[in-house]
Amino acid sequence: PGYVVGVDLGGTKIYTLLATVEGTVAAEAEVPTAAGRGYEAVLDQIADTVVAVAAQAGVKPENVRAVGVGAPGPLDPDTGIVHQAPNLGWKEAPLRADLEARLQLPVCLENDANLGALGEHTFGAGRDCNELVYVTVSTGIGGGLILRGEIYGGVGGGAGEIGHITVVPGGPGCRCGSRGCLEAVASGTAIALRARELLDKGAGAGAGILALAGGEAEAVTAATVARAAEAGDPEARAILDEAAWHLGTGLAAVVNLLNPCRIVLGGGVMKSGRLLWDRMDRSLREQALDAAYRRVRLVPGALGARAGALGAVTLALRSR
Ligand code: BGC
Ligand code: NA
Ligand code: ZN
Repeated sequence: PGYVVGVDLGGTKIYTLLATVEGTVAAEAEVPTAAGRGYEAVLDQIADTVVAVAAQAGVKPENVRAVGVGAPGPLDPDTGIVHQAPNLGWKEAPLRADLEARLQLPVCLENDANLGALGEHTFGAGRDCNELVYVTVSTGIGGGLILRGEIYGGVGGGAGEIGHITVVPGGPGCRCGSRGCLEAVASGTAIALRARELLDKGAGAGAGILALAGGEAEAVTAATVARAAEAGDPEARAILDEAAWHLGTGLAAVVNLLNPCRIVLGGGVMKSGRLLWDRMDRSLREQALDAAYRRVRLVPGALGARAGALGAVTLALRSR
């Protein structure tokens, strides 16, 4: 019996699936990404989780045919090099070669959001749609394009980087080196940062948010802001509204450019609730061309946090 492994390497966690060659999931594992410990440490972690999921299902490593890996940042699937991973601090990392050396298995590499798109297109909310955009809003903001039923990678695999579209010229700095990127104003990281900036003002600013974080400023995340907003806190509401508006601005650019039939939204921030979705939809409606807006549907991903890893499984299955 043959197996493949799919790995979704994120800025916050590494999620790994073992599947049979028929595509049935046989084991899974999740570990927090040791991004702060450097490139080599993360390589070891990925290799360890691959071995761990195989062991969990009692599968010998030699029965794993291929490993698909999704990584954040523009990367070239042909050379296996991650050009820049803003949220891991990597530049020109030869990830595929390094993983193949560690695992002694064939590895294929693709951008994490591109694999989210592939996963949702193959198994999830995009199954009946061949012009599909997948957007994930979490630590960073990623985009994956399915055009005519296939991943569209552009000339070097870097297409679909919606998170680094400028939506606020001269705005807050982004980890990619630019300013005012969508990711710098609407990611989970950005939302949490706006809340902490508010708390830094003192004099009771952000008290409603702080209360939901047990009084600890460091514990404030985008999810705290979302909960406070849903509970009616006006300051949290303003932060969330602003992020949602910017998301709509980014989506409007994409919708005008590609005229897709569906935008599938994944990532932790998309679980923020109705307020965020309604505001984002309104922003999109007001800023996109009517003809394009009428044809597109915004839907939550059907695969949740598994989308990228299931896309990675699909990639590995195709590569054998
Ligand atoms: C990267 C994307 C990635 C996204 C989500 C962004 O910072 O540029 O390639 O898809 O984060 O991980
Ligand atoms: Na992408
Ligand atoms: Zn950027």
